Amino acid sequence: MSYLTVQNAIKRFGSFVALNDVSIAVDKGEFFTLLGPSGCGKTTLLRSIAGFNDLTTGTITLDGADLRAVPPHRRDIGMVFQDYAIFPHLSVFDNVAFGLKPRKVPAAQIKTRVMQALRAVRLESMAERLPAAMSGGQQQRIGLARAMVINPRLLLMDEPLSNLDAKLRIELREEIRDIQKQVNIATIYVTHDQEEALAISDRICVMSAGRIEQIGTPQEIYGDPQTQFVAGFVGTLNTLERGPATEALLVRLGLSSNPGLTWAVRPENIGLAGSSMQGAALPGKVNKFTYLGREAHLQVATPAGDLVVHVANPSRSEILAPGSTTTVVVPKESLMTFDADGRRTAAGG
Ligand SMILES: Nc1ncnc2c1ncn2[C@@H]1O[C@H](COP(=O)(O)OP(=O)(O)OP(=O)(O)O)[C@@H](O)[C@H]1O
Ligand SMILES: [Mg+2]
Repeated sequence: MSYLTVQNAIKRFGSFVALNDVSIAVDKGEFFTLLGPSGCGKTTLLRSIAGFNDLTTGTITLDGADLRAVPPHRRDIGMVFQDYAIFPHLSVFDNVAFGLKPRKVPAAQIKTRVMQALRAVRLESMAERLPAAMSGGQQQRIGLARAMVINPRLLLMDEPLSNLDAKLRIELREEIRDIQKQVNIATIYVTHDQEEALAISDRICVMSAGRIEQIGTPQEIYGDPQTQFVAGFVGTLNTLERGPATEALLVRLGLSSNPGLTWAVRPENIGLAGSSMQGAALPGKVNKFTYLGREAHLQVATPAGDLVVHVANPSRSEILAPGSTTTVVVPKESLMTFDADGRRTAAGG
């Protein structure tokens, strides 16, 4: 049995269903991420595990025992929030020690445990400072130390990096990942940033409108999305317009089109004529060209619809002004298909 399980969780707020039959299983030491758009139920699920709200129906177990029967302050769960939630008038040391207050830890142990937690987040030299004199990234590390000082059985983090600028976010997410692997505490991490989720997680659970769309490793979620929602949310997805141009393209690729299916392709899996890609060609006109150094992003109008094309290490002939004509190459193996419910089907099936 998994370390943490949530089974058939339903959470209603009045008539609104915020969690609609959600089940997850998280292993010991696992870094498990909830990813999805605003309002999909990520915080609601986290708060249900922490005990700040109670499920309408469903079960939660931790290490084999029923967790819903345990009051929140007895669950031994550490939480890190988006807004740091630290006290400005307390030193770094006292902010972290605050987590131990309700636990009646002997005074002699407090110092050791706080310094141990501060060492883990590399703040031991700043123990006496006030938070106001620290950067956002350092303040969030105080939050992390305070969550860890209680030796929690589970660590829950709700968008801990969303108040930080882009560069700090990337630095701190790698630190969080390293610290988590060191302390080896099962962690549920919430984000709506797909790149962050891919970078940091052992497994990702993609949610939409209170439901789970897919659970898998970053590679499975990105490379083998099971629904059109997942493919579009994690990465970019071009869908081919239904009509004669798409039909003709499929025929040239030797694929039979089924009228109920949606055909789609990722921008990096199609290319411009002249590249090494083999496939069927579509004439196009460049609407937008964005040069990013190692990559270029194009928006190209084609008879099968507007397509985003990502070109790695763009060659001279691939650097195109808006208004230029070009040819988009669509390899057969790049195409994905989804049924009317948005579920992935075997190519053409
Ligand atoms: N106490 C509440 N009463 C009524 N509705 C609520 C309550 N808490 C959450 N909701 C609703 O439940 C849905 C899910 O909310 P939740 O906070 O879990 O979303 P989220 O995925 O964390 O979104 P975000 O990325 O914006 O933080 C939302 O539509 C929200 O308005
Ligand atoms: Mg939230």
